[in-house]
Amino acid sequence: MSKTLVDIQGLSKHFQLGGGRVLKAVQNFTLDIKQGETVGLVGESGCGKTTAGRTIMRLYEPTAGSMIYDGVDITKLSKRQFKAYRRRMQMIFQDPYASLNPRLTVLDIIGEALDIHGLTHSKAERKRRVEELLELVGLNAEHASRYPHEFSGGQRQRIGITRALAVQPEFVVCDEPISALDVSIQAQIVNQLIELQKKLSLTYLFVAHDLSMVKYVSDRVAVMYLGKIVELATSEELYDNPQHPYTQALLSAIPEPDPSAAREKERIVLSGDLPSPINPPSGCPFRTRCPAATEKCAAEVPELRETRNGHWAACHYA
Ligand SMILES: Nc1ncnc2c1ncn2[C@@H]1O[C@H](COP(=O)(O)OP(=O)(O)OP(=O)(O)O)[C@@H](O)[C@H]1O
Ligand code: SF4
Ligand SMILES: [Mg+2]
Repeated sequence: MSKTLVDIQGLSKHFQLGGGRVLKAVQNFTLDIKQGETVGLVGESGCGKTTAGRTIMRLYEPTAGSMIYDGVDITKLSKRQFKAYRRRMQMIFQDPYASLNPRLTVLDIIGEALDIHGLTHSKAERKRRVEELLELVGLNAEHASRYPHEFSGGQRQRIGITRALAVQPEFVVCDEPISALDVSIQAQIVNQLIELQKKLSLTYLFVAHDLSMVKYVSDRVAVMYLGKIVELATSEELYDNPQHPYTQALLSAIPEPDPSAAREKERIVLSGDLPSPINPPSGCPFRTRCPAATEKCAAEVPELRETRNGHWAACHYA
């Protein structure tokens, strides 16, 4: 069994909105990730996936909880002490259009990452290293002198991937790396990420909307709802035996390629919108949309508990 590389314990991120209002974007997030593992993180827009990823990376200071990386609680480190860890964990961003500085060439976008950590020692070495990295992700070395606007969405995301990998990280948060891309190239980028993971022994937290894609890439999957993890299991277990009504609804919405199986599968349509994280429901956060909700669900918060070996769910009736 590989060692635990990332151990997130009760991490929360609350945003102060003024007027005394607090938006609890991430609440009591607990998750461990083994070295070499891919954990998928899924949930509707606004449920807190990006905020969780950014807080794990300490791009946001957590409101509570800790993030233990390779045995060290990085939330307790000074900025200076943290710098070495910053290199070891990187993030690939959701929007390849907004995340690259349009005024810099690809050489400087990637070179900047190398400079911050003092990884190359001469201009020639820097350039050589950038070209090598571009080729690693399937781009041409000549692309180094071009600007972001000269690339397609898929190529830009490859540049974003190159920038993240330039500093030789161990752990990478991939925040919906394909959601802004054409469907036709999504699979190429996902396959590239899987290939790079093998080649470079990376550990991934893979954020996505699309459950079918997450199953394909992940060893385990965590499902988030309104800032909280509501279910966590191995991919297979989650898909074959979902225990939380929210996960069951998400899975029922995946189109079934086999028409005879599709007839048997009943689509669970969730009524109502996602409640506001500023004013979440009492008790179970999912109760306003849950087809199985009871009085107990309004009164008591269901804790995330292990319902069977390695399978966790936050539902009173799981
Ligand atoms: N910097 C911020 N200040 C205040 N509120 C924020 C901030 N960032 C995110 N939020 C709020 O926190 C909640 C979670 O947002 P987040 O972007 O983490 O969701 P998400 O799951 O990544 O959504 P998507 O799938 O659309 O990317 C949302 O209600 C959002 O409006
Ligand atoms: S605790 Fe109640 S409301 Fe929440 S998911 Fe379970 S049955 Fe539904
Ligand atoms: Mg997001």
